[in-house]
Amino acid sequence: MPTSERSRLVADLIRSRRSVDRFRPELPPREALLAAIDSARWAPNHRLTEPWHFYLCGPETRQAIIDLNAELVGAQQGPAAAEKKRARWSQMPGYLVVTYDIGGDELREREDYAATACAIQNLALQLWSMGIGSKWTTGAVTRDRRFYDLIWVDPQQQRVAGLLWYGYPLELPDASRRPVEAITTDLP
Ligand SMILES: Cc1cc2nc3c(=O)[nH]c(=O)nc-3n(C[C@H](O)[C@H](O)[C@H](O)COP(=O)(O)O)c2cc1C
Repeated sequence: MPTSERSRLVADLIRSRRSVDRFRPELPPREALLAAIDSARWAPNHRLTEPWHFYLCGPETRQAIIDLNAELVGAQQGPAAAEKKRARWSQMPGYLVVTYDIGGDELREREDYAATACAIQNLALQLWSMGIGSKWTTGAVTRDRRFYDLIWVDPQQQRVAGLLWYGYPLELPDASRRPVEAITTDLP
């Protein structure tokens, strides 16, 4: 493929990806998720630590996350808010949790989180290339001790980088970004 076409394809893929809020109910095939994880693992990672791990939630785990989140919301905002949240989270088809290894020094953890964020973007772009949308959330539930129990992760060894919802989009939100000139500075 000529370089110019490749460059345009990459730019299109990156620019057209959106965080998806509303999905069709059906779950994308497992093979699509595995292909996205295959691309995720090619993210840059300092000292080749490959710090990431991907947890594909089955129906039981998905339901347990929805319930725990509703419980947390209920405790903060009351039962009506909890049920609203439960209904909304129940509309998200796919649940995937991404963690990274911790336990080293502060710099290592920061680099490993950065590498994992790159991996998540790889994953989101690979999914998007197959018409599958996703949304990354770092909501309070992902930081709750009980969330770690649900995914069988020891919080002394791994930290949750995010929960990703995925599925086929019903609609794509609008988005904008500041122009290149506003975020770029030429140095002598
Ligand atoms: C680290 C991280 C955490 C995020 N957490 C949330 C979240 O908790 N809830 C949410 O609705 N969106 C969350 N998002 C998605 C952002 O809101 C979204 O990327 C942003 O609105 C830009 O939209 P776009 O991804 O369509 O360009 C998160 C994104 C990142 C990178």
